[in-house]
Amino acid sequence: MLIAFKFVFFLICAASVMSLSESWLPPFPRAVFRAALVGVAVLVLFYTDIMAPIRRTAEWVKKIRLGETPENLPSKERRLLGPLVKEVSKMVRSLETARLAAEEEARLRQSKDSVWTPERLKEFVRTKLGGRPLFVVSNREPYMHVKKGRDIEWMVPPSGLVTAIEPILEACGGTWIAQGAGDADRETVDEKDRLRVPPEDPKYTLRRVWLTPEEEEGYYYGFSNEGIWPLCHIAHTRPVFREKNWTYYQSVNEKFAEVVLQEIDGMEDPCVLIQDYHFALLPRLVKARRPDARVAIFWHIPWPNPESFGICPWQKELLIGMLGADIIGFHTQYHCNNFMETVDRFLESRIDYEHFTVNREGQITSVKPFPISISFIGNESSSSAEKVTSSKEDLLKPYGLSAEWIGVGVDRLDYTKGILERFFAIERFLKKNPNYQGKFTFVELAAPSRSLIPQYRQFADQIDKEVERINSLFQTKNWKPILFLKKNHSHKDILPFYKHADVCLVTSLHDGMNLVAKEFVMARDDEKGVLILSQFTGASRELKDAIVVNPYDIGQTADAIREALEMPLEERAERMKRMRAVLRERNVYRWAADLMGELAQVRLSSAVVS
Ligand code: G6P
Repeated sequence: MLIAFKFVFFLICAASVMSLSESWLPPFPRAVFRAALVGVAVLVLFYTDIMAPIRRTAEWVKKIRLGETPENLPSKERRLLGPLVKEVSKMVRSLETARLAAEEEARLRQSKDSVWTPERLKEFVRTKLGGRPLFVVSNREPYMHVKKGRDIEWMVPPSGLVTAIEPILEACGGTWIAQGAGDADRETVDEKDRLRVPPEDPKYTLRRVWLTPEEEEGYYYGFSNEGIWPLCHIAHTRPVFREKNWTYYQSVNEKFAEVVLQEIDGMEDPCVLIQDYHFALLPRLVKARRPDARVAIFWHIPWPNPESFGICPWQKELLIGMLGADIIGFHTQYHCNNFMETVDRFLESRIDYEHFTVNREGQITSVKPFPISISFIGNESSSSAEKVTSSKEDLLKPYGLSAEWIGVGVDRLDYTKGILERFFAIERFLKKNPNYQGKFTFVELAAPSRSLIPQYRQFADQIDKEVERINSLFQTKNWKPILFLKKNHSHKDILPFYKHADVCLVTSLHDGMNLVAKEFVMARDDEKGVLILSQFTGASRELKDAIVVNPYDIGQTADAIREALEMPLEERAERMKRMRAVLRERNVYRWAADLMGELAQVRLSSAVVS
């Protein structure tokens, strides 16, 4: 536009000079003079408005190629080469990420460091699986599409499973099969119910499976979450087993099996990683039709002792279903032991305690601990180091509050998480230490969960009441002990709280692993926060530098809060440093490498599972 304008302006000027020249030049020299004038104008324009910006853009691209960080292109260049610049800018970002990753790789290789990175995992999986794609099955999907007015937005559901598995698929690619549960999920898939995700930078395929409301009620809310969930978590909530729910559990497992079989059709020796208690029957269903498939099931929640498990009316069916897998993984050795004893108690099989395998009708299953983790690699480009610009005051200001010390808790609103016990401990702490009244606020970021189940609704009501009661005991005009924020918080919302909290409380009554504890440690690159951790979490076996508590012991947790707030800075830093070192070494890439390395080595038994 500007060039055209300049060109017209030049022509007008040239025309005026030319009309002047008519009076003093004869016709032929006049024609030559006019042509020369137009030629000069075109050359000047071409040079200043086309060649020069292209040259400067080329310089800019060159700087990027040489690994420098050039300033933004001036607006003239952006106007002329807009779309090209946009694409190059995107490429710059990808190159920058790849460059940092490569540098990190080189650094790790040189220091003979044992850290697993996405690149190392990708390479490992490619070698081990011989280029075959990976298939993951879970109930919860990693990205959910929801309607917001007329728009469709995507969100990441609150789930430890999603936190752990997503980075692996991002690194290795493959297909993730999961229930499509968002109200705009159907509008965002192709005709084969697939879409590429993450939505902003697609790296793998999400295959959605549709359930009817009845199926969802029976299989997900009913059998999985009113039955198996409380059965496996010893949190003193009674499991409910209904015949109708069991029927749905079976038929939904069959439905998923059909989808898995469709997806792996035509692939030789495929690898299928099944996730969690929603799919105990799936390993056998897949193996029966595809004995060449390598199948693992990872159980993300605890496994109880045989007496507790024995109250499930379909105990045998669940065990037989799981034993269709080549590998069954738990977070801890203790859960593996419980599982072996349960099999021993309820099934006819040959158990080898030396190698921790079960041989049932010729199908050999290996039972092993694989403690799951998060995507922490410890370099500054990892998400832990995302820039947080807010301050402690900024976090509380929107709620009209201010406090000298902050505690944080991040949970799904679930009765296994010990949220009530945590609040009682805060009450006790403030009573025992009145000097902290007006100065310590605990922020609970709670995501509503499974609210169609009566126990969950009652639990949420009880929490609301207790928060109100405790706050009313102590609160002042601009301070209260508990700030209870009930909504689905994104990672971006949570991070500043992790970064500024003096103490993080994880007080689960029973938890397979608990990744909140690990996420808090990952966020604290300043080595300043203190972690209080329940002894009944899998994470407490690894994070020994946390202050470990029995969440049922309210007095002990109250004292732990005080100990955390008064811990000398050097001790905090020492503890945090050690926990970060543990996490860096045992990150989720290592988890995946251990599990997939094991799966790749499985000798497929000749037995056909019936
Ligand atoms: C636990 C389970 C996961 C589940 C998550 C969230 O971490 O092990 O399988 O996805 O809770 O629960 P939800 O019922 O919302 O999927």
